[in-house]
Amino acid sequence: MRPVALVTGASRGIGHAIALRLAETHHVLLVARERGALDEVALEISARGGVAEVLPLDLTVPAQIAERLRDQQVDVVVHNAGVGVMKPLLELTPDEWHRMMDVNVNALFHVTRAVLPGMVSRGHGHVVIIGSIAGRSAFVGGAGYATTKHAVMGFAENLMLEVRDDGVKVSVVSPGSVATTFGGRTEPKGDGQLLADDVAAAVMAVIDTPPEVLLHRVEVRILSPKRPRA
Ligand SMILES: NC(=O)c1ccc[n+]([C@@H]2O[C@H](COP(=O)([O-])OP(=O)(O)OC[C@H]3O[C@@H](n4cnc5c(N)ncnc54)[C@H](OP(=O)(O)O)[C@@H]3O)[C@@H](O)[C@H]2O)c1
Repeated sequence: MRPVALVTGASRGIGHAIALRLAETHHVLLVARERGALDEVALEISARGGVAEVLPLDLTVPAQIAERLRDQQVDVVVHNAGVGVMKPLLELTPDEWHRMMDVNVNALFHVTRAVLPGMVSRGHGHVVIIGSIAGRSAFVGGAGYATTKHAVMGFAENLMLEVRDDGVKVSVVSPGSVATTFGGRTEPKGDGQLLADDVAAAVMAVIDTPPEVLLHRVEVRILSPKRPRA
């Protein structure tokens, strides 16, 4: 039987690319809100010979997370879903602030709580979190988003120290700018940005380490934003 990997935000962008790569070796559970988009990803995976299940749920609703993930045995969880509203603090609405906190930070707690007991009892598992370069830097307009990504770094390192002796790995993969529709961009910019699959490849490298080796933090950058991609 294939190991099971759960990917949040699997309906598009980076999560979609991660799900496609993971599906080469894992049974993949696809999480996002929009069922139709998840169904399309599942079809794409089955057309390539993989197996995927859709788990539509809203990560801002802890009861949905608990209910849908209760019976899942998960070997790898990729916390990828995220939202970004880049605005100066005084323009950021309470709703935008709470949505970023709920999806980018609070969902880490709820999803991890649902899948970690099984990992600990089986003595292995991998929690991979998609962070951001914004998790260790600052920019005007980042008071909400970058704050959530700083929180992600703290969560990951503390959890890593807590569960490594149980055989569970915790990693953060932190990309620079990636060509997706993140943050409401209508068109990915393209030049000077990473592709979603570049991040997916880094996630696979982090997962594919010897059992006793942990890649805890990885930054993924475009080599030179000035050079057009070959
Ligand atoms: N793109 C970049 O430049 C960049 C750079 C560094 C880090 N990152 C990080 O990479 C991750 C993925 O970004 P992306 O660019 O791939 O974003 P994206 O294209 O906007 O995709 C976001 C994904 O999250 C899901 N999602 C959003 N809110 C949700 C909710 N309440 N419940 C369940 N799923 C939800 C979306 O599906 P539904 O809308 O259907 O729910 C979608 O699948 C994020 O954590 C982001 O912070 C992105």
